[in-house]
Amino acid sequence: MLTILLQSATKLRTQTMSLPTLTNGHANGCGAPKDYLPLDIAASIRELRSKKNAIILAHYYQESEIQDIADYIGDSLGLAQQAASTKADLIVFAGVRFMAETAKILNPQRKVVLPDLDAGCSLADNCPADQFAAFRSQYPNHVVVSYVNCSVEVKALSDILCTSTNAVKVIQSFPEDQPILFAPDQHLGRYLVSKTGRKLVLWPGSCIVHETFDHQRIVKLKARYQNALVIAHPECTEAVLAEADFIGSTSQLLQFVKDSPKAEFIVVTEPGIIHQMEKACPEKKFYPAPAEDGCACNRCPFMRLNTLEKLYLALRDESPTIELSNELCERARQPLERMLALS
Ligand code: 13P
Ligand code: SF4
Repeated sequence: MLTILLQSATKLRTQTMSLPTLTNGHANGCGAPKDYLPLDIAASIRELRSKKNAIILAHYYQESEIQDIADYIGDSLGLAQQAASTKADLIVFAGVRFMAETAKILNPQRKVVLPDLDAGCSLADNCPADQFAAFRSQYPNHVVVSYVNCSVEVKALSDILCTSTNAVKVIQSFPEDQPILFAPDQHLGRYLVSKTGRKLVLWPGSCIVHETFDHQRIVKLKARYQNALVIAHPECTEAVLAEADFIGSTSQLLQFVKDSPKAEFIVVTEPGIIHQMEKACPEKKFYPAPAEDGCACNRCPFMRLNTLEKLYLALRDESPTIELSNELCERARQPLERMLALS
């Protein structure tokens, strides 16, 4: 009986101890097992990045530790410009899928990896190309201006793209009597109507993050911090934007807090941006706007799928890559390049 027990215990120990096998060496020749994560992930990322001539591009909504290791941190326009001009062999895109796809379209020779391919966007996901094509066909005299937060197929169906940084300029680049269809963000679209005085036909899409900011709770926050300015992204609802002292894209919000003589701000966008605000203005105070009752849904669930660990693996394995057909890329490139020429 004792022998049987001892035999089982020895067998169990052997099994347990044999789990982290070192024989499964990695293809890069580092000898480490494929699922091995280094203790100092940031140092390993830096080492791999220079070895592979890679560039790490990160959006302002990424986790702080990802922003801190990036070569460039920016809004969707800045990231597209960086991606278009980089000579790096590998682009590691710490953002969401439509941004990484934009990078691939603008610089198709480069390999583009996204740490988590599920990092989508509610605006892109809720504007299927077939339904958009049917919608567009109802307005044959309209030019189609699409927000870059859309699929490659929808980009290919557009005349020109825009981001929240250049949207006003893009709309104003058309003659006043030119009818315009704007997709997929209805809130940004309504904001553009109020800014430009143009009538736009709007696709009824929205951002699940910006739509969740609660008007009543922002009013309460304003009453609590009476010296604070409210700054908001134009993807917010009309009621929330009506409370804002300044409306702008992520890069414009960041620039605004740097330039402002004020010391306190209620920030109505994804709170990832606050990391750069605090770095640029350590003496100022930033209050993230609350979402609906007690939820953390002001954090973009897509952006936050990327982690430092996944970024390391994407860089190490050069995977998962963004793959697009040449034909689709060609069709989507023209409207994107029109936007870049205006920016
Ligand atoms: P920016 O263009 O300001 O970076 O915004 C992108 C985005 O996804 C906002 O939700
Ligand atoms: Fe898309 Fe909204 Fe997330 Fe921006 S914050 S990536 S618009 S879901």
